[in-house]
Amino acid sequence: MHVLLGITGGISAYKATGIIRLLTESGHTVKVLPTQNALRFIGAATLEALSHNSVDSDLYTDVADVKHIALAQEADLVIVAPATAAFLARYATGLADDLLGNVLLATTAPVVIAPAMHTEMWQHPATKANVETLNLRGVKILEPAVGRLTGADTGVGRLPEPKDIVTFALSALQKQDLVGRKFLITAGGTQESIDPVRFIGNKSSGKQGIAIAKAAQARGAEVLLVAANVANIDTGLSETLRVSSAAELSEAVQGQAAKFDCLIMAAAVSDFRVENVSSSKIKRSEVGQELNLKLVANPDILAETVKSLSAAKSKTLTVGFAAETIEDNSEVEALTQLALSKLAAKQCDLIVANNVFNGKVFDSDVNNVLILAANGDSFSSSGTKYEVANQLLDVISDMLD
Ligand code: CTP
Repeated sequence: MHVLLGITGGISAYKATGIIRLLTESGHTVKVLPTQNALRFIGAATLEALSHNSVDSDLYTDVADVKHIALAQEADLVIVAPATAAFLARYATGLADDLLGNVLLATTAPVVIAPAMHTEMWQHPATKANVETLNLRGVKILEPAVGRLTGADTGVGRLPEPKDIVTFALSALQKQDLVGRKFLITAGGTQESIDPVRFIGNKSSGKQGIAIAKAAQARGAEVLLVAANVANIDTGLSETLRVSSAAELSEAVQGQAAKFDCLIMAAAVSDFRVENVSSSKIKRSEVGQELNLKLVANPDILAETVKSLSAAKSKTLTVGFAAETIEDNSEVEALTQLALSKLAAKQCDLIVANNVFNGKVFDSDVNNVLILAANGDSFSSSGTKYEVANQLLDVISDMLD
């Protein structure tokens, strides 16, 4: 993505270096556009070296290139940080008296600004009115942070940290196609107790399910994540329910699936449980050389939920995962066939087929899946688990519409 970073003349202009670093390290192309006053606080050489691009803030050089239009059209995103009180006033009145002012009037890209100034200036009615005007025009404004200001004083007006500015700016680009939709998403792997210290489990880390939950929330959905034995979920998700066994997961899903627009069963559910769970630790000395555990089948939660949803004529879209082991990853046909029979057996709307042959996908940050729909459509998706999550959500979003 091409990011145009405007810097205006405030003491925190030096923090723009952190923004450039974070953006270039994430693979974005950054063009820096400081105002003449910004260059009193930070040198063009620093900005050129970090952005790997030349820096020019003069409207009247290379006029034949029609720079302000070229820069405006090239940008996918414009960030102005720090944005001074004077800049807010010029931008709010549409004053195009320098290169940055011209670019801002000419661009159609989303604009994100991070104001920074002394508390009194931020709270002045003139600044408030300018912020309100820009807000109404769709400019995304990151509120200044509270903390130490230029002098010895503290208060609201400090420029937020570069990572917060970058996160805010990138989320402003996020499409909001799932606003008003409710998602119930399971992740992780169930555990079936043998005794108080041992269990039968599986290798699912929960990363793919969590990525789907995070991506859905970022796109505006209301998400309930049912997490089975997932370690350290730093999800930032508003609602997470922790479960352990298939029975607990079943209870969390079956009773309430109809209240959701979409159920995504990404969790790896144990197909069997120990019939008689020992209430005390099984002692090796008492067992001898062989331990026989009788396993009985767990219900197929997805299949049963689909059945009760369709009996209740619920419109909840149902998505299952199919973990299959196919030796040769190029055998897409074999994976497709297995996934299609699972789709038919469970009667869900979509199935996400995952080849887990060598176990590498577990705990990995990348994935490679086939998405098959009951209506015969198929899509392949690969990349980070978050990218795969978004591609799956693209398909779901279309189906929900
Ligand atoms: N699933 C479920 N209840 C179970 C087992 C699986 O709801 N008792 C769901 C999973 O969450 C997943 C889908 O069914 O969405 C397929 O799971 P998978 O383990 O791939 O297949 P199984 O149905 O267990 O069939 P098999 O083990 O024979 O491949």
